[in-house]
Amino acid sequence: MNEDKTGNAITEKALEAYSRIENKRLRELVQGLIRHLHAFVKEVKLNDQEFETAWSQMEEMAKFTGDERNEYLLFCDVVGISQLIEAINHARSQSAVGSALVGPFFRANAPKRKRGESIVSDDTKGDRVHITGTVYDLTTNKPIPGAVLDLWQAATNGLYENQDENQPDYNLRGRFQANEAGRFELAALLPTPYPVPTDGPVGELMKLAKHQPYRPAHIHFIVSAPNYETLITQVFRKGDDIIDEDPVFTADRTMIGEFRKDNGQYRLQYDFQLKPGISTMPKAPIP
Ligand code: BEZ
Ligand code: FE
Repeated sequence: MNEDKTGNAITEKALEAYSRIENKRLRELVQGLIRHLHAFVKEVKLNDQEFETAWSQMEEMAKFTGDERNEYLLFCDVVGISQLIEAINHARSQSAVGSALVGPFFRANAPKRKRGESIVSDDTKGDRVHITGTVYDLTTNKPIPGAVLDLWQAATNGLYENQDENQPDYNLRGRFQANEAGRFELAALLPTPYPVPTDGPVGELMKLAKHQPYRPAHIHFIVSAPNYETLITQVFRKGDDIIDEDPVFTADRTMIGEFRKDNGQYRLQYDFQLKPGISTMPKAPIP
């Protein structure tokens, strides 16, 4: 019979068991996780049945995880972990566009497109938007010649091209290069709201919480240039009535674009700012 009713001795022993990890950062992460998980179990007094439910749910989540989807990442997105990590690691001044989680639908190697070209196939339903802007250095405010913009978005049926066999490969995706003056120009689809996947255990949890699944309309952008920190962001639509209800907690006022309609054509003028630093690309969840 365990004499230590608080379980503190078990926590200490568990921490000690992982104290010999040589890599200092890995040791910090593993011990921190043990400490917080033990504190959680003590705080809520997790019982046997609840523990069983937790690992059964993880088993269920594994069934929804593979090359095309990761239910664990989706869980982190809908409980705010992914955006929290963004906020901690990529703090930016309020005058610059904000940083956003990459989300599960990025695909590397989108087609390189020419200035002014459209990322939308002719048979894609919905309005088009003409987008122009400049990529600037956040510290000097000088334009960054040759910066690369990699963008992707969902169709009006709420599906990204790789979720939808009726869309052409790489529809609504493209890479563009800014000119010598850092300026870019392209055509995209006017974005519309769509739900995060709700057919798995994460969707069940959201239903229980009455946490609405529709993401406000947005276009994803990754903006990069040599010797600058890569910016992962999203552009939302000014006036979207669910802007404050983003199920993944990304949409905020530093990422709002004004999609104006003049003479029947939607237009967006939107600038990006990059911080000097190391250029990296996210791992594409989907090969
Ligand atoms: C997205 O915007 O593509 C997204 C982000 C998080 C979860 C699901 C979808
Ligand atoms: Fe998205």
